[in-house]
Parts: sequence; C-alpha cells; structure tokens
Amino acid sequence: AKLKMFVDELPDMPKIHGFDMVSGVPKSKSLKIGMFKKKWKFHKDLPPTPVFAYGTSKHTATVPGPTIEALHGVDTYVTWQNHLPKKHILPWDPTIPTAISEKGIPTVVHLHGGIDEPESDGNSNAWFTAKFKSRGPTWTKKKYHYHNNQHPGNLWYHDHAMGLTRVNLLAGLIGAYIIRQPNVEAPLGLPYGSEFDRPLLVFDRGFRIDGSIYMNSTGNNPSIHPQWQPEYFGDAIIVNGKAWPRMTVRRRKYRFRIINASNARFFRFFFTNGLRFIHVGSDSAYLNKPVVTNDILLAPSEIADVVVDFSKSKNETVILANDAPYPYPSGDPVNEANSKVLKFIINGHHELDTWRVPKKLMKYPSPDLSSASHTRYIAMYEYTSDIDEPTHLYLNGKPYEAPVSETPKVGATEIWNIINLTEDNHPLHIHLGLFKTLDQTELVKLEEFKNCMTKINDAIKCQISKHARGKKIEVPAYEKGWKNVYKMKPGAVTKILVRFSYIHSNESYAFDATSEPGYVYHCHILDHEDNAMMRPLKFFK
Ligand code: C2O
Ligand code: CU
Repeated sequence: AKLKMFVDELPDMPKIHGFDMVSGVPKSKSLKIGMFKKKWKFHKDLPPTPVFAYGTSKHTATVPGPTIEALHGVDTYVTWQNHLPKKHILPWDPTIPTAISEKGIPTVVHLHGGIDEPESDGNSNAWFTAKFKSRGPTWTKKKYHYHNNQHPGNLWYHDHAMGLTRVNLLAGLIGAYIIRQPNVEAPLGLPYGSEFDRPLLVFDRGFRIDGSIYMNSTGNNPSIHPQWQPEYFGDAIIVNGKAWPRMTVRRRKYRFRIINASNARFFRFFFTNGLRFIHVGSDSAYLNKPVVTNDILLAPSEIADVVVDFSKSKNETVILANDAPYPYPSGDPVNEANSKVLKFIINGHHELDTWRVPKKLMKYPSPDLSSASHTRYIAMYEYTSDIDEPTHLYLNGKPYEAPVSETPKVGATEIWNIINLTEDNHPLHIHLGLFKTLDQTELVKLEEFKNCMTKINDAIKCQISKHARGKKIEVPAYEKGWKNVYKMKPGAVTKILVRFSYIHSNESYAFDATSEPGYVYHCHILDHEDNAMMRPLKFFK
C-alpha cells in the first residue's frame, strides 16, 4: 500500500529551554531528559510505529526529540536517562564491535557540534543501560555539562553507543539543539526565534504494513556479519516526525535549520518552482555573508541554515524535492517516493515582512595556514568479502580499538588531508573541532596509489604529492564557512584546516580537553561509523 503524500501537517517539536530566567537574568539549568519506548504516528494512514523517543516523560516524548534552546554563556546540564526495555526494536549485529549488555539497551548521548568537555561528549564506550545498571568502560558521569560558550548556531543531539548508533538513531534517538546569542544575532534582522524560524529534521525510513520500521535483518555477508549492511535506506521521507508533510506558509521570509538526520542518505534539495535558498549558516556556524543557491547537497549530519522568501513564489504551492542518488554519488537514482520531501502551501496575499537578510553576517577568522602546527593524512578504506560485498570500513586502516594516533595539542590548529580510497562519498565529522575545507583534488593514477596504500598505509611514502594533482573540485560558497562535517569525495584528497579552539574569541577552554575519555572523529554514515569508520582523538597539553 502506498502512503499519500502531503496529508499530515509539519509538526514543530516541543521546545525546552536550557536556562532559567530569574528576575530577568538567565541562569544555568539542569534538565532530565529520558529515552522511552513508545508508539509514534509517522503518517495519518500508517499504524503507530514502535520507536525510541527522547522527552521529559514518556507521554511527551517525540521523534525527533524536543528542541533544546540554550543561551550562549549559560551552562546547561542534562541527565540523560535510559528508560528503554531489554530488547531492541531493530535487528543489531553482535559481530561488529558493539556495546552489549544483558541488562538493557546501551545508549549514550552526543551533542553534535558542541565544544564540551570529554566527560560530557558522549564517548561511544561511555554507554549506559536503563537506571545506569550497566556502564561502558569509559563511562564517567550521569549529568552532562554543556558549556554553551561557543558561537551561536545549530547543533543536534543523538545517540552514539558503540556499534549501535545506526539502530538507536533509526529507532528515533535524535533532536535539535540551538545555541542562541540574541544580542549578537537579533541585530542581523534574520527570521529569529519565532514561528518563522523552524528546525527541520529530515530522514528516510522504510515501514512494514503494521507500521513498524523496516530494517533488513540479514547482512550483505551473512556468514561474516549476520545483520550488518553497508547503508540503510528507506523510501519514506520524514520531516519532524511526519512522512512527506505539508506546511502552510505566509508570503514572507522563513528560516529553516535543516538537519540531515539520515543514516546514509544524502539529499540534494531544490524547489520545484525554482524558489531559492539563501544560506546564512552551515553546520553549527554562521557564514560571513549570505549565499544564494538553487539547491543544497546535504550529507548525513550536515546542517544548512537557510532563509526562503515565499513572497518570491509565482505559485500557490511548491514542493521541496530531492534528487541525490543513493548511495551518493554513484548509487540508484531517486524514485517517486524518496524524491519528495515537503509541500508548502503559500497563503494568498502579500504582507509586510520585517525580517531581512543583511549583506554581512558574522565575522569569524579566515583560515590561517601559518598557524597550523601539524599536518595529518587520514585515509579511508573499504574492505570487501569474496563476493565483493563490503565487510567493514576503516580510517587509516585501523580499527577503533587500535591505540590513539591523532593527538593534537589543546587549542591547536592543524591541516588534515583526508584521502578517500573508496567509491562512496563519506561525510567526515570531527568532535570538538571546526574546520574549513581548503581544497579538494582528484587523485591521478589512483590504482597505483591505492595499491601502495593498501600495502604500506603511508601517504607520504606512497607519494601523495605526486598523486594529488588531478582536477580541483570547487568548494561551493555556502560550504566555505566553519563546518564540523564535510563530504569527502571518492578518489580525491580533501584538505581541511581544523581548529580545536573557539572561532569567536581568543578565550581558551574553560574545561580540560585532555581528560578521559577523549573525543572521536568518524564517518557520519552511521552504518560505516558502526563498523568501524571511527577513531579516537585525544588532546595533550
Ligand atoms: Cu553526530 Cu560523533 O556524531
Ligand atoms: Cu562512510
């Protein structure tokens, strides 16, 4: 049976403030947010779906979870509480490196884009089960501390448990987190903090007739990994918890903070009537100035902060559509279902619009190559079985458990060259860091280089400089800001300048970035991250 598109209204997730107002002064706040198993209506005509949802109670828990609104400079504390049952709603695979507990479902929350102490970063081995009955080897504390001392922008929180990230997010453990700094942001004049300023969490899911989430329970290499599959894709496109919803808008500007919360699906969004996007931010940071485009290519976990001016629409309705092949870039073309996202119904009359898009946004530093203290090479490998199906993927040819090799100094700036030796695009995410993509260059004599790397895994000895001489790939202007995820093109080397310090000030950290359990960096295709395209990242004085 086919579900009808555009019949459910686009929901807004409940809002939770990460601060208290005490006689007009914002004060830090401690929240308790639980994870609950419940049922969720993804579509009017689909039976309720068993999900895992974040919320302050089972009754109010939602998929995605509540949007946490924090204030710059005011600490938010969250005790994340696991109320999940013993049995997962989705098939998982004990043969990949996985948190396993008899006592319940391991979970741990990461605030993606947060510049926070290691103890609160949601290390994959810092997992815990219901009532904290079992705890992973790097578990340190119950109450997470979010400093909110960074620049204002868009973050999101999601599960990060070792080997279970793909199934825990698929089950629903995701939510938006916004750091606001009104004295700096409000003067920009952009749609801000009102019904015209909305997070959109977009992901794909497959459903069975009974409403449950469909995930293939057999792996591509069942004799090696009984369940693991290299990429999860579903045909239904969900926005804020509804499949292909619709939204009635007025003829004026809106701001959408679009988060790609899919496991593996890239989106290339565009409007069916040529309406354009005015980019004001990417991932967690504002751009220096707005950039206008016709489409947005958004990999898993990338965030586009855009203004759309519906007064420019010639039509009464417009569809936000998608045409990104999956896997990206050389997979299947989109079909009727996964090529549609959201329908806007535009109200008749023009109206006075007091929001504006300024010429300039934020002034953050430009990359300063001379300040880079270290150059690293990070190679991405895919390994296949005799039947030529992927069995696992590694960064630098190493499993997660191999001793830490990326050990920057606290506050350092570094150059990382990410060499993608696979056939897929991988969105690389670095915890704690913010980076700018300097350039992306195709590798020449790729096979020769690949052979050498497969043998000795050493970019310098394999003469990377001789191979990094191919076509330069243009980094689009809307992706030239400070980001925390970027798309690593296959057969290319991507050079980034990563800062492990605040971009808005010279302040040093108010926390000890060197403490245990450290951080991680990884591919944000969750099925890759789990098996095991993730490595530790530790800081030293
Ligand atoms: Cu959005 Cu380490 O993750
Ligand atoms: Cu990947």
